[in-house]
Amino acid sequence: MTGRVDFFSRERWTAGVIGLGYVGLPLLVTAAARGLGAVGYDVSAERVDQLTTGRSHIDDVPDASLGEAIEAGTRFSSDPAILREADALFICVPSPLGRSRQPDLSYIVAAADTVAAVVRPGQLISLESTTYPGTTEDYVVPAVSSAGLTLDEEAWVAFSPERVSPGDEMKTADIPKVVGGVTPASGDVAEAAYRRLVPSVHRVSSARAAEMSKLLENTYRAVNIGLVNEVAQLCHELGIDVWEVVDAAATKPFGFQAFYPGPGVGGHCIPLDPQYLAWRAREANFATRFIDVAEEVNNRMPAYSADRITDLLNQRGLPVKGTAILGVGIAYKPDVADDRESASIHVLETLRERGADIAVLDPLVGPERITAHGFSPVGVDDDLTGFELAAILTDHSDIDYKRLADQVPVVFDARGAYRRLGISAENVEPL
Ligand SMILES: NC(=O)c1ccc[n+]([C@@H]2O[C@H](COP(=O)([O-])OP(=O)(O)OC[C@H]3O[C@@H](n4cnc5c(N)ncnc54)[C@H](O)[C@@H]3O)[C@@H](O)[C@H]2O)c1
Repeated sequence: MTGRVDFFSRERWTAGVIGLGYVGLPLLVTAAARGLGAVGYDVSAERVDQLTTGRSHIDDVPDASLGEAIEAGTRFSSDPAILREADALFICVPSPLGRSRQPDLSYIVAAADTVAAVVRPGQLISLESTTYPGTTEDYVVPAVSSAGLTLDEEAWVAFSPERVSPGDEMKTADIPKVVGGVTPASGDVAEAAYRRLVPSVHRVSSARAAEMSKLLENTYRAVNIGLVNEVAQLCHELGIDVWEVVDAAATKPFGFQAFYPGPGVGGHCIPLDPQYLAWRAREANFATRFIDVAEEVNNRMPAYSADRITDLLNQRGLPVKGTAILGVGIAYKPDVADDRESASIHVLETLRERGADIAVLDPLVGPERITAHGFSPVGVDDDLTGFELAAILTDHSDIDYKRLADQVPVVFDARGAYRRLGISAENVEPL
């Protein structure tokens, strides 16, 4: 085993990534940039073809970085046999929720089956997909043993959660990695491998602790966002500006981390990951009350926002039905083009059900996706004077908020954009 720790610490080894999406592609490019060999496998032949020609589908991986990785020898394939060339396999496949909001492990199971088919002596297998504690032991370890390999002698298994946040300045290569092996020996080998990939590794005693740490991180966010969303509703009742309150509390040098309210939570992590924990807790007959309350408050925010917009129109003697409303930003967070699970869409759908005439301004998500949601796309330079109300649902940087408030009679600012940018306009109503 010392030999394998030494190997991953010193040699030029090859990383094999299973699943080339938001998590897998940056990891592969990072491995290539660190001077390691890199091979990528994805079930989508279309994705593999696109990557092979140097076109990245991930905003955080510019074509230039992908090109450098390819020039350094990185290859992609939709044939899992390519994974035999790798010394370490990193599983980065989706872990969504099923129809009843239970964990859908089908992608992890399929990836484990792939590992079982290709694994060879000497390989480290690390699961990076977000999941509940016990998954690596229950699904990845059996893949190794079913291939006839002895754990910790011929193959090593670990979990290391990916913490990247799309659009954030901190990229995969800069973010400290939590690493836990299914055994101490597997943890040692995984730690050595990750030390070649990222500047900082935080070793934990087990894969289960590593799995749990990721769920704690995102549950912490969901619960705190839920708290501030509830406080925002209370502040509105009491006639207090919640943004002013959060900014004031955030001046405390310790013991307070600022979370901001909004029209609900979105994306593929915060609404989903706590449910993995809640599901696992239910299996153990344990109630996760904070998760349940946060989910209830956060899920109610789109309807609450739609109600506030309805009230604003009524105050001006306007019905929702037939009124032209502009939704600004339908990505799930600022400065990304990703509209998966976006709360903005739920707000606008609620208003559309009430009969509003909805158009959307989102230069990043773009007209094609906006039309696919059944809304009319509006360009950044278009005349906005025909709208009765604009709702800032996601505050992208590339929008002229001053012009918006000049052209539209009322602006509902669900993101505190005007306060943050220091633009004062009397017709702006914060959440
Ligand atoms: N996107 C994020 O910001 C983020 C951040 C942290 C953690 N995560 C977690 O990382 C994991 C991956 O998420 P993502 O956002 O990268 O997903 P993604 O949908 O962007 O990419 C997943 C890729 O895996 C491929 N794939 C699916 N099944 C496969 C299989 N059996 N074998 C090989 N390839 C397969 C898909 O074709 C796709 O290219 C999830 O568990 C997610 O919760 C995501």
